[in-house]
Amino acid sequence: MTLAAAPAPTFDKGLANTIAAETQMSFIDGGKGVLEYVGIDIDSLARNSTFEETVYLLWNRRLPNRTELAAFTQSLRDEYELPEGILDLVRTMPREATPMHALRTLVSALSLYDAEADAEGEEANERKAIRMLAKTPALIAAFDRHRKGKPFVAPDAKLSMAANFLWMLNGAKPTDAVAKALDVCLILHADHGLNASTFAARVTIATLSDLYSAMVTAIGTLKGPLHGGANEEVMIMLREIGAIDRVESYVMDRLARKDRIMGFGHRVYKAIDPRATYLKTFSKQVATDTGNLGLYEMSRRIEEIMAREVAAKGIYPNVDFYSATTYHSIGIDLDLFTCMFAMSRIAGWAGHCIEQLDGNRLIRPAAAYVGPHGQPYVAIEDR
Ligand code: SDX
Repeated sequence: MTLAAAPAPTFDKGLANTIAAETQMSFIDGGKGVLEYVGIDIDSLARNSTFEETVYLLWNRRLPNRTELAAFTQSLRDEYELPEGILDLVRTMPREATPMHALRTLVSALSLYDAEADAEGEEANERKAIRMLAKTPALIAAFDRHRKGKPFVAPDAKLSMAANFLWMLNGAKPTDAVAKALDVCLILHADHGLNASTFAARVTIATLSDLYSAMVTAIGTLKGPLHGGANEEVMIMLREIGAIDRVESYVMDRLARKDRIMGFGHRVYKAIDPRATYLKTFSKQVATDTGNLGLYEMSRRIEEIMAREVAAKGIYPNVDFYSATTYHSIGIDLDLFTCMFAMSRIAGWAGHCIEQLDGNRLIRPAAAYVGPHGQPYVAIEDR
């Protein structure tokens, strides 16, 4: 029997035109600027849902009823606490360490305290996903308290994930408005198709490695400024500009140098990222309430100039552009912005890993060899 010849592989740099997986979680129409989670428009979810309900939707492919939501929420709250050994590890960390390095390390260390770390099967992975999602806010807050020389704040299982994070971070209960602002950001960042960090997680789990290893892969991938690190870069840019009357010259100079304006452009969206649309309105309200309207107005001015200069190339604000102002306005330190992204995206990463294992196939693309052939081995004394 002769094997049917496999089609010759094609080189798709950046995999922009390659479908590498099927998913039932996020639908993105990049041309129209549409994002749906399990068929529900992101704007409806941001206005009406909560992060916990959105995670249930992503993981179960449907909205929960009251009883189901209460049980799922409780399963997360039962896992807020960190093992004492993790807190000991935080205490040994250099205070000047980058928070994303600390988070990547701490999520990895969590696996050492999980008896099910290598357990296989969907139910075991769902339990691990709940533990990682529930504990990540505490990991971030604990490191931030440590680096500022402040005592740890124990989680409060009476609070939502967003409110509990802010409580552990600041040692004070957040206002409902501030907790809501973070909850909306967590909803908007929860999943987004096969973005770089989600693809990385799928590659890892597809080897039948464990869910913790896949999350560590994803966190490392998200850190890059072309991906999740962009929100920090947006805030750095806003600080560099400093005043609204300097926006035009700053943006034009960067564009002239072919430098990227962080928070703009997207591999998939060639219209405005719908998450940015919602965040734009939301960040104005949060910025107004917290005395940061100048940041919002600078952002709007950048957007106006970018619309004039590059909208024709399909370059619009993405989720990171207005999330920067929102996070700053609710008092999140700039170098924790990408940790906020990770705190939410663990939901999408874990959901995609569980999807990948259903009908799994090792992900192993080809590489086109472009080096020499037929080279002699030259003894070292003759080199
Ligand atoms: C996220 O994939 C996802 O879903 C990611 C994400 C998610 O939820 O997981 O949505 C989250 O990562 C959002 C993106 C955050 N990154 C940034 O904001 C960084 C700045 N943006 C870019 O670097 C860029 O837009 C990318 C990396 C996001 C996408 O780049 P592509 O698809 O590889 O496009 P490209 O680099 O080939 O650029 C095409 C053209 C180039 O101009 P030409 O050489 O053709 O003349 O557009 C230009 C680029 O110079 N361009 C920009 C620009 N982004 C692209 N010019 C100025 N500023 C920008 N931001």
